[in-house]
Amino acid sequence: MAESMKGLSRTCRCAELSEQNIGQTVTVMGWVQKQRNKGSIVFVDLRDRSGVIQLIYEEDACGAENFAKAARMRAEFVVAAVGVVRRRDGAVNTNLATGAIEVHVRETRILSESETPPFHIAEGINTREELRLKYRSLDLRRPDMQRRIILRSKIIQYMREFMSAEGFLEIETPILCKSTPEGARDYLVPSRVHPGNFYALPQSPQLFKQLLMCAGYDRYFQIAKCFRDEDLRADRQPEFTQADMELSFVDVEDVLDVNERLIQYVCKKAIGEEVQLPLPRMRWIDAMNDYGSDKPDTRFGMKLKDLSDLTAGCGFGVFAEAASKPGCSVRAINVKGQAGMARKKIDALTDMAKGNGAKGLPYLALKEDGSIKCSFAKFMKEEELQAICERMGAEKGDLLFFAADKNGIVWNVLGALRLRLGEELGLIDHTKFNFLWVVEFPLLEWSEEESRFVAMHHPFTMPMEEDWHLIDSDPGAVRAKAYDIVLNGVELGGGSVRIHQNDIQEKMFSVIGLTQEEAQEKFGFLLTAFKYGVPPHAGLAYGVDRFVMLLTGADSIRDVMAFPKNKDAVDLMSEAPNVVDDKQLEELSIAIVRPAEE
Ligand code: AMO
Ligand code: AMP
Repeated sequence: MAESMKGLSRTCRCAELSEQNIGQTVTVMGWVQKQRNKGSIVFVDLRDRSGVIQLIYEEDACGAENFAKAARMRAEFVVAAVGVVRRRDGAVNTNLATGAIEVHVRETRILSESETPPFHIAEGINTREELRLKYRSLDLRRPDMQRRIILRSKIIQYMREFMSAEGFLEIETPILCKSTPEGARDYLVPSRVHPGNFYALPQSPQLFKQLLMCAGYDRYFQIAKCFRDEDLRADRQPEFTQADMELSFVDVEDVLDVNERLIQYVCKKAIGEEVQLPLPRMRWIDAMNDYGSDKPDTRFGMKLKDLSDLTAGCGFGVFAEAASKPGCSVRAINVKGQAGMARKKIDALTDMAKGNGAKGLPYLALKEDGSIKCSFAKFMKEEELQAICERMGAEKGDLLFFAADKNGIVWNVLGALRLRLGEELGLIDHTKFNFLWVVEFPLLEWSEEESRFVAMHHPFTMPMEEDWHLIDSDPGAVRAKAYDIVLNGVELGGGSVRIHQNDIQEKMFSVIGLTQEEAQEKFGFLLTAFKYGVPPHAGLAYGVDRFVMLLTGADSIRDVMAFPKNKDAVDLMSEAPNVVDDKQLEELSIAIVRPAEE
């Protein structure tokens, strides 16, 4: 039996009350966290997004009718209470921000009742994620979710503040776009008016922001929804939010400068973290060689070391071969003090290495007694093992893991191993915020799948002038004016200076295997705009969800989005995607071809 709130007006949120309000009559409204009935007195903890306040119902003070309502209250009922703020009679509750006060209720109403919720609404509960996603409005009531969603709102607000003050214009770009190649898989939207034709949802506003630069809006930004049909992970969602920007008449330094100040401003305001500028920079090749990753977590060491020169002529065929082949190498990491690692553990790490493309995980343990236990010892001379230990800085008690293969596999295997061991051995200082620019990315990367070069960032990325002469002889060696901002091993954002010269753009298309005609067909609208005066320009986009995830210490991107999809790209709450009526399909001239039944 729900009552109306007619005549009542909320005076403040629950936890906005403090000792300063003692003696005042207030009206609060919220959800019942907990009700305790002691016979002559009923205690109710009332919750809203600010926190919890304790309500006291005594029959003498509130009358029989109000007291009966209090006795009926259960968890998640929505309740209004009018009463006087008093200092607590009993002991101060130090778990509550409002623990020194309570509201002695004079009048109360039950605004709506609640069935028993499928899980308890409280901080840090251990509920299955499927259940949390299904009953998302309940999950979002929990204080830890509310804290993150509120901080997300603030972070976006601080970004807007900073960007506006720096002269950026917020301009919206379309959601129904043209499908263009060279990215992740597109989400497509069928056109009713043009049967057989499709829009694509934007993977990013990339081309539009470049067109805005052509149009003279020399500083653009947008909090933009982006859509990518790719395999999901803990830090990836099919739709996500970018803080996207583009600037004209700038080069790399200008973009990095404004973004460092943006990061400093947002971190200070959002979490009180003082970020020291300038941020460190690392070349892509150094990131790969030292950390085996283009998004290195620099909160701990355990760097990779190259052993190719030491193993070139050794008796272990796997090493000797990798050491001498171009594009291959032998590298290792030193796990300090882990020489005694259990066989089972090493096997688990070996499985992981194999999952990352290695054929095995050779190791060498330097025992406390000075003896060596090594999985490939039988192939190696004593001096060769000694030289490896020396290069690796191995001391008694250390454990070395090796990878010998194509560079890409070696980096991948040891980079992932390093991260896992860093986490498992507690080497990571979780209070640190290690921002880092990774710069000088390769312009192109070889795609085995497609047997061609593809753009590492996107095909509009400017090559470095000093490398451009290599574009025909050694395309893979050309570096780009591209940069990523990395925080604690997560790629937070990325961008580049763009090509604004037609001849370079045409060459770029041809290197990635697009003919003039194809380029015209796919990107004609951009190329046309480029014919009529295009300023030099550059930009960058942050993954807002990832930014919030890191600043709030959340484990999953789903914990910083109000309504995320699960790992199978399903919204468990609304049950999207779903089948639609035949009539809708008919209007769209779409027929469904179902995969053959197993
Ligand atoms: P990029 O593709 O690197 O660059 O994307 C920029 C940032 O967006 C975030 N991000 C994601 N976040 C959640 N889920 C995803 N599926 C996902 N994919 C990307 C990452 C990433 O660093 N237009 C260019 C930017 C530019 O050149 O200006 C772009 O989109 O944090
Ligand atoms: P084996 O000769 O099979 O006893 O291997 C000796 C060590 O080398 C083991 O630690 C294997 O995991 C490792 N190993 C064997 N083959 C390869 C390979 N192709 N690549 C990397 N490591 C290998």
